[in-house]
Amino acid sequence: MPATVIVGAQWGDEGKGKIVDLLAQHSDLVCRYQGGPNAGHTIVAEGEKYKFHHMPSGILHAKECILGAGCVIDPEVFVRELDELEARGISTGCVHVSGEAHLIMPWHVAIDQGSERRLGELQIGTTKRGIGPAYADKAARLGIRVQDLLEPKILRQKIEVALAEKNVWLERVYGVEPLELEELAARYESFAQRLRPYVADTSLLVDRALRDGRFVLLEGAQGTLLDLDHGTYPFVTSSSPIAAGAAVSFGIGPQRIDEVVGVSKAYVTRVGEGPFPSEITGPAQDRVRELGGEFGTVTGRERRCGWLDLVALRFAVRVNGITSLALTKVDVLSDFDEIPVCVRYRLPDGEETEDFPAHQSDFHHCEPVFEMLPGWLEELAGPALPPAAADYVAFVAGSLDVPVTLVGTGASRDAVLALQP
Ligand code: GDP
Ligand code: IMO
Ligand code: MG
Repeated sequence: MPATVIVGAQWGDEGKGKIVDLLAQHSDLVCRYQGGPNAGHTIVAEGEKYKFHHMPSGILHAKECILGAGCVIDPEVFVRELDELEARGISTGCVHVSGEAHLIMPWHVAIDQGSERRLGELQIGTTKRGIGPAYADKAARLGIRVQDLLEPKILRQKIEVALAEKNVWLERVYGVEPLELEELAARYESFAQRLRPYVADTSLLVDRALRDGRFVLLEGAQGTLLDLDHGTYPFVTSSSPIAAGAAVSFGIGPQRIDEVVGVSKAYVTRVGEGPFPSEITGPAQDRVRELGGEFGTVTGRERRCGWLDLVALRFAVRVNGITSLALTKVDVLSDFDEIPVCVRYRLPDGEETEDFPAHQSDFHHCEPVFEMLPGWLEELAGPALPPAAADYVAFVAGSLDVPVTLVGTGASRDAVLALQP
């Protein structure tokens, strides 16, 4: 399909990077539509491991890789990623960044860290990469944008104006050292020189590609339940990972999106704080974490692990308009003789529901209702799934009324089964 969105259907880390890398082979443009260096996408290809924060996951196929207006860019992280790619022999000449994207500045990182410290037990558990403060300044119309890098005088002036206020916050509210104007202005001018060639009108690029009938993948970072509007607020990120975010970020009409591929693990993980009904209790959680290698790509934190939650996944199908699912990490469940799947929530008043609760207190206090599915207790090595694994996948598809078209059977690029062309 010419324009396909790839969206995380859970709380992030679903394996989007691997699925985008796979589909990028058949695409012309790979476009990231939101988020920043809070994302960590791992791709294992030909025995090599790559971890991307900013870069769209199509970069290994030398596709046009585009970051849209909805992204926030930390120039230091971005330049480091460009350097690392070039050092590994991967050309970055195909990378384009929207001039409308906002910059994450050092005060955003310092405020993110200070704010989490102040919140103490109430903290969100952010990646501390300055994401929330950068999007907050964007909404307050105080942000510095990528296109400001094109004009040294404007860039310096904007840094100066911002610092006058941010330093007061840093010193008086968060009790940390203020930032120094001259040092910062010089450092950002050097980033600017490096980034200028990559700045582009990304809406025009995507529009032209679609008019020419080229294939465009629109890649979300994070996941549906971390969406600022529709996720588990306030334990969310500050952007719109849901599929509609792709149209907003690239300035294309929503009717131009042809297909939405949801990526979900065969179980669930979550990094950071917040309610998590199907979180596994007891030693099975550690077993899933070890078998799945569930440690954060960005912060190295242990990921919390839960059994597959069909209530949350049904919600993701709804708010994204998911047309097919990629179910990753099915191999991780090969070790369990019985696999619980959360099919309903029991609400505090005793009522059971298949629909995601609209009210936060219902979600915070609901209990998962599990159905036990038989395990398969064998490796997923062959060209077909063992019958019990096929039944597990069919149960998911049937419960959601969405086809599962891809099944992840291992971390590497080729460890995937296509169930339909
Ligand atoms: P993303 O943020 O959604 O791109 O996901 P991450 O890269 O943060 O986390 C997914 C992890 O699972 C990565 O280490 C991948 O290499 C790995 N992975 C992806 N798909 C599979 C799969 O089907 N099986 C296994 N065992 N690992 C997978
Ligand atoms: P990828 O793209 C998993 C989580 C953080 C925290 C919350 C807010 O690899 O799927 P933020 O730094 O964005 O303000 O943190 O969101 N979070 C992620 N969890 N995968 C991610 O990205 C995430 N990006 C942010 O742990 O709970
Ligand atoms: Mg990740």
